[in-house]
Amino acid sequence: SKGNHRHYMLKEIYEQPVVVAQTLRSYMRRIDDQVSLPIPDFDLSAIRRVTIVACGTSFYAGMVAKYWFEQFARIPVDIDVASEFRYREPVLEPGGLALFISQSGETADTLAALRHARAEGQKIAVVVNVPTSTMAREADLLLPTHAGPEIGVASTKAFTCQLAVLAALAANLARAKGRLSPEEEKKVVRHLAEAPAALNAALAYDEAIESMAGVIAGARDVLYLGRGPDYPLALEGALKLKEISYIHAEGYAAGEMKHGPIALIDDAVPVIVIAPSGPLFEKTVSNMQEVQARGGKVVLISDYDGIAAAGDGCLATITMPKVHPLIAPLVYAVPVQLLAYHVAVAKGTDVDQPRNLAKSVTVE
Ligand code: F6R
Repeated sequence: SKGNHRHYMLKEIYEQPVVVAQTLRSYMRRIDDQVSLPIPDFDLSAIRRVTIVACGTSFYAGMVAKYWFEQFARIPVDIDVASEFRYREPVLEPGGLALFISQSGETADTLAALRHARAEGQKIAVVVNVPTSTMAREADLLLPTHAGPEIGVASTKAFTCQLAVLAALAANLARAKGRLSPEEEKKVVRHLAEAPAALNAALAYDEAIESMAGVIAGARDVLYLGRGPDYPLALEGALKLKEISYIHAEGYAAGEMKHGPIALIDDAVPVIVIAPSGPLFEKTVSNMQEVQARGGKVVLISDYDGIAAAGDGCLATITMPKVHPLIAPLVYAVPVQLLAYHVAVAKGTDVDQPRNLAKSVTVE
């Protein structure tokens, strides 16, 4: 049931601290601060390349994972949307791990890609929310998310749980590759363990986000900008807005904006900038200032320090708790989801059953 919530989507957004904690518990041992996989004897040390395949929101979780796998484990990663994967005739060499990410475990394109990768000799890992699904059955390495049933068509809690599993997998790969000392591993586990409380703190800004949803609800077009592991969050924010509020939205890598989309900037196109404190903050802010210099109206999503440093001159700001950059993609998913939700409610659309969409896409 929806409990006290008006929509399943809102209920599922609010479940995230609990289901992310639940998911993390099966991937970390707090006793010795080690990450562990549900299949401990699966040998990750021989893996030479990871190929990630998924659709929609699950694909964006995969994009975040690419940053993590390459940064922490120094393993090269390819990533494709499932509908493109087979047709580009990918080069799949021995020693490859093909990683499929899916809430439902039934998405037709992703399943077809999985079978193709198996036929090409890849080891098959699956991050999936429905434990009885076809993809779960066909995995060599099954990595379940424990989000519980997701009813709202727009994916929310499945996404943050996928990120939790993928962060744990990144740490496992890094350890298997000899790139994570026990000290560093302890730190990673501690940062991940902070995610549930940080998600809770992010949810506390719900009302503030609701009160500024009108700014976005009146727009015809919206741009979302982010950098590094938060760039996929810009794509996810734009997808959420499109699918439930029917507002045209595009996500861009912040630095790419000056190569074209900046021509769209005027005071009628709100630009939402995702910029947590961290190594990429200054660069993202300078892209934000390029927007402001052209009369663009900016909504800045950052933490208290980031907003103190760069919030002047913004149309609105959304304050997040200050978190380690590793967990920022999980935490910043919350404002992105809530903003889409409140904009959709303001516009009176059918939040849980958006037009033309199905929860599970079983045709290619
Ligand atoms: C977005 C959304 C879709 C799904 C996509 C993949 O909110 O729900 O983009 O993420 O259809 O579905 P799964 O994860 O079930 O393979």
